[in-house]
Amino acid sequence: MRKILILFAHPAFEKSRVNKCLIDGIEEIGGVTFRDLYEIYPEIDIDPDAERKLIEQHDVVLLQYPFFLFGMPALIKEWMDLVLVHGWAFGSRGTALKGKWFGSVMTTGGSRGAYQPGGFNRFTIRQLICPLEQVACLCRMHFLPPWVVHGTNAISREEILRQKERYHAMLARLADDATDLHRYGRLEYLNHYQTAGE
Ligand SMILES: Cc1cc2nc3c(=O)[nH]c(=O)nc-3n(C[C@H](O)[C@H](O)[C@H](O)COP(=O)(O)O)c2cc1C
Repeated sequence: MRKILILFAHPAFEKSRVNKCLIDGIEEIGGVTFRDLYEIYPEIDIDPDAERKLIEQHDVVLLQYPFFLFGMPALIKEWMDLVLVHGWAFGSRGTALKGKWFGSVMTTGGSRGAYQPGGFNRFTIRQLICPLEQVACLCRMHFLPPWVVHGTNAISREEILRQKERYHAMLARLADDATDLHRYGRLEYLNHYQTAGE
């Protein structure tokens, strides 16, 4: 079984509807380790050595967060800046992450249609998160397309619950050693993994 590390950050978790539901029961999925970074590091005092040890014990690293101003919460960026350092994550002797998988799980207020050329937000989600794709490349990791819940401003409770079910099913699929994750690399969204030649 592949081991999945989910690094979650929500700057206003007390107001969350969607992420709160998505993460409910997530640790019961085999292979999943869930870490709420704002809960663990309320003073933003990230322990890079502990974080590196954890990553070394996992095969897949997923960043989960609500999309705020077209980017990730500051704590996730801080985590990346302190943990993914030269000589460990990249550089000629930095091979700790080589061959692992790197992806993201996001919720956006904007609809899927808003995230396309000519749409309200002009760029696709994959374009907007291209630094993550390049970080994966730099660290010789395999990049997974984003898994996204769009349109959260007007989403019903029933739809949130459906998305939670799909998210947990996707995680179980990632954790399954028999799944060839290379098939998913070219997808626009990981949400569509079932269409990737299976
Ligand atoms: C400060 C702030 C900035 C936001 N920026 C964006 C944005 O750039 N694009 C977008 O689609 N939604 C944006 N949203 C909407 C959030 O992405 C949305 O509320 C969140 O994903 C819902 O998840 P939750 O119920 O777990 O909080 C923003 C919301 C806030 C509060």
